Amino acid sequence: MKKYFKPGIFILSTIPFLFIFYKIYFNKLGPEPVKEITHFTGEWTLIFICLTLSMSPLKRFTNLSVWTSFRRMLGLFIFFYATLHFLTYIGLDYRFDWNPIFDDVIKKKYVLIGFAAWVLLVPLAITSSQKMMKLLRNNWKRIHRLIYAIAIFGSLHYIWLSKTIFFKPLIYFIIIIVLLLLRIKINRKELNYG
Ligand code: HEM
Repeated sequence: MKKYFKPGIFILSTIPFLFIFYKIYFNKLGPEPVKEITHFTGEWTLIFICLTLSMSPLKRFTNLSVWTSFRRMLGLFIFFYATLHFLTYIGLDYRFDWNPIFDDVIKKKYVLIGFAAWVLLVPLAITSSQKMMKLLRNNWKRIHRLIYAIAIFGSLHYIWLSKTIFFKPLIYFIIIIVLLLLRIKINRKELNYG
């Protein structure tokens, strides 16, 4: 049974991509197609961040280790959707015109923090394999703690670009803070019980 879960989660995780691909292909993006793709991919990046951070708490609460076996795949989907989001911005919005992109990164704090979140995702994606995990040993855990900073950066990016915290940016912010607090609690318990 367990062996069917992973392919199932993989297929489910590709649905947002297939959905936006369908909308692009059949011209169903509405009057502002680039904005629509940016918003869609940005929100799904944040959803995958929340899903990835939920796996350890779910393992704790249900006593089922299967949850954490999805973590790596979900983490790679964060990188996948964040990269689509980033490529939409640099490729479709700015047509790879680097000067205004560079200007945006240094002048708009929400672009800067979004960019920082994407940059931090790169080492996580590169070191995601079992081989890298063995090679890096304890450093692997340290590198992968970057996900906490990425989650906070992603959430701040959404709050800053929305200009107001109400309402969806606040919901994501609360979910992320709760998930991070649960992580701290789990890590402490693991330390106490060795
Ligand atoms: C982990 C990385 C990131 C996350 C989680 C993220 C998340 C989001 C979210 C949730 C939105 C708004 C979606 C909505 O309105 O429904 C958004 C919009 C946007 N993001 Fe990101 N983002 C990330 C990285 C980036 C990067 C690297 C860039 C560019 C350098 C970027 C540029 C933008 C822009 C330009 C918008 C649209 C702003 C507007 O409404 O005009 N983001 N992002």
